[in-house]
Amino acid sequence: MEILQRINEAAAYISAKTGEIRPFAGIVLGSGLGELGEKIENKIVIPYGEIPHFAKSTAMGHKGNLIFGELGGKSVVAMQGRFHYYEGYGMDQVTLPIRVMKILGISYLFVSNAAGGVNPSFRVGDLMIIRDHINLMPNPLIGKNLDEFGPRFPDMTRPYDLQIIKRAEELAASMEIKLQKGVYLAGTGPTYETPAEYGYFGKIGADAVGMSTVPEVIVARHSSIPVFGMSVITNEAFSFSEDYVNDGDDVVIAANKAADRMTRLFTAIIKSL
Ligand code: HPA
Repeated sequence: MEILQRINEAAAYISAKTGEIRPFAGIVLGSGLGELGEKIENKIVIPYGEIPHFAKSTAMGHKGNLIFGELGGKSVVAMQGRFHYYEGYGMDQVTLPIRVMKILGISYLFVSNAAGGVNPSFRVGDLMIIRDHINLMPNPLIGKNLDEFGPRFPDMTRPYDLQIIKRAEELAASMEIKLQKGVYLAGTGPTYETPAEYGYFGKIGADAVGMSTVPEVIVARHSSIPVFGMSVITNEAFSFSEDYVNDGDDVVIAANKAADRMTRLFTAIIKSL
């Protein structure tokens, strides 16, 4: 089936459940960050399994629900868990929900993830505003262009919205939430990086490394949706003591600890837009 038809069928199924609701913002919640979903009021929860053409969420710390409701007094739709390329899904499946959200009418996309810190000034638990990215995954726009959504050769000069970044920094200062700002590099995973790879990523300009987010951001920018992105630093991948080891459970635990701060910040930003 054509991608466009799959997107339209998924959107039609969802609209039949949510009626007149037009979400103002879409939110993608990464590993261990699903807590924001619990803060949404007047919820309508749709499990991914029910939605035609949605994949199953198999990654650890990812619940697999689409949640409609209100956050910061605005109508939102949140993905509690996302799809990753390393799960074996094609890029069209990984990014289908973003195009569905575009059809549902979102004006902004908020994305979040757990990431390894390669900038040596970062600490576990830090929140990092994503100011730019480096894509080392296959580009999700490869293939026939969906002209309905955007151009063949989309501009990527400002992938993350500068006004929202400024707003986030002002709000975080007033809420006494410490923020880092940096470049997120996306690899395919599922292996974590070798020390040499972390070192290399730092040298080419990355501050944090993960296995997600960039496909969604590229597809959102293709269709001109302003994006705000945030990484939670879950491991310090720059000094490898004898007992240093990367472990998925520890990543989810570290992300969980930061989820409340990220939730409060996202809520304040959405309220202010
Ligand atoms: N590398 C890739 N993905 C990650 C990491 C990492 O160190 N930490 C959390 N997600």
